[in-house]
Amino acid sequence: MQTTAWLSADLVPRSGAEQVSGHAAQLTNDVSAADDDGVSISDIWKAFATGNENTPAVEGVNLRIRRGQFVTLIGPSGCGKSTLLRIVAGLLTPDRGSVSIFGETVIHAAESKHIGLVPQTPALLPWRTVIENVELPLQVNKHGTGGGDRRPIDPRELLESFGLGGVLDRRPHELSGGMQQRVAIARAFVFDPMILLMDEPFSALDEFTREAQRRGLLELWQSNQKTVLFVTHSVAEAVELSDVIVVMSPQPGRIRAVIPVDLPRPRGSLVGNSEAFHTVEVEVRRELRRTWSQPE
Ligand SMILES: Nc1ncnc2c1ncn2[C@@H]1O[C@H](COP(=O)(O)OP(=O)(O)OP(=O)(O)O)[C@@H](O)[C@H]1O
Ligand SMILES: [Mg+2]
Repeated sequence: MQTTAWLSADLVPRSGAEQVSGHAAQLTNDVSAADDDGVSISDIWKAFATGNENTPAVEGVNLRIRRGQFVTLIGPSGCGKSTLLRIVAGLLTPDRGSVSIFGETVIHAAESKHIGLVPQTPALLPWRTVIENVELPLQVNKHGTGGGDRRPIDPRELLESFGLGGVLDRRPHELSGGMQQRVAIARAFVFDPMILLMDEPFSALDEFTREAQRRGLLELWQSNQKTVLFVTHSVAEAVELSDVIVVMSPQPGRIRAVIPVDLPRPRGSLVGNSEAFHTVEVEVRRELRRTWSQPE
């Protein structure tokens, strides 16, 4: 991984007339051509067939995430956050709409190993050891599509940097839930992807490990110019990490609000004792409460 300064940039949901100022984000009704220097999510609709019914999961989602930006999705359980992430990862096909990643289709970006996904559940193969699970993408790729221009990172080094150097030869059932989560995070990094899609990656961790993982992620993001699309249920975590927080409304998931987090970094010391930090938290909570009281 190379040390490059991260870039702050703009996030643009491409429908809606509201304008929000701030260097980290803006809302606009600009629906112009795809942005080849970021991620464009254009008018995504997805429903699931359940029995005789079609359950809408996400509807009309438009987002543009600039390269290097840290964007967090937050919203009630079932509002479609994982669905959206899986569509951006190329694991689900939307019923309508499209996604472009640094000017490429999702399929092409996935083949080029530009995308790293940390799924909501770690999804480790139970018969493979920790190191073998992290090596898996490299082995699959050997017989597959070629790694594009991504240079893999040594899995052993990677696991050591995640504090898992002592459990390389254990199998997933011998690990705690939080350790399994960290293995899944390490696995997502193996191709040094340009975009990281992280679905509640720290949910099973204790408070102190969670804090350490957050710090580690921010260091990595800042020194390697990653673009991150992150999901959490923790408002404080969202404010600490993000350039922009996207609040989604419950079923079907729509974008309810886009909130720029215009706070200096690093923010660890601001948590809990800064007026500015608290103001953003209050705003996010207010929008979340509104999604409950005025479902769309
Ligand atoms: N494979 C599937 N088949 C049928 N319905 C699905 C499927 N995947 C998701 N859904 C439905 O789509 C909706 C959105 O689910 P999703 O997992 O994206 O929500 P979420 O916002 O990630 O929730 P959580 O915060 O609980 O993880 C839910 O109603 C869910 O039941
Ligand atoms: Mg989810």
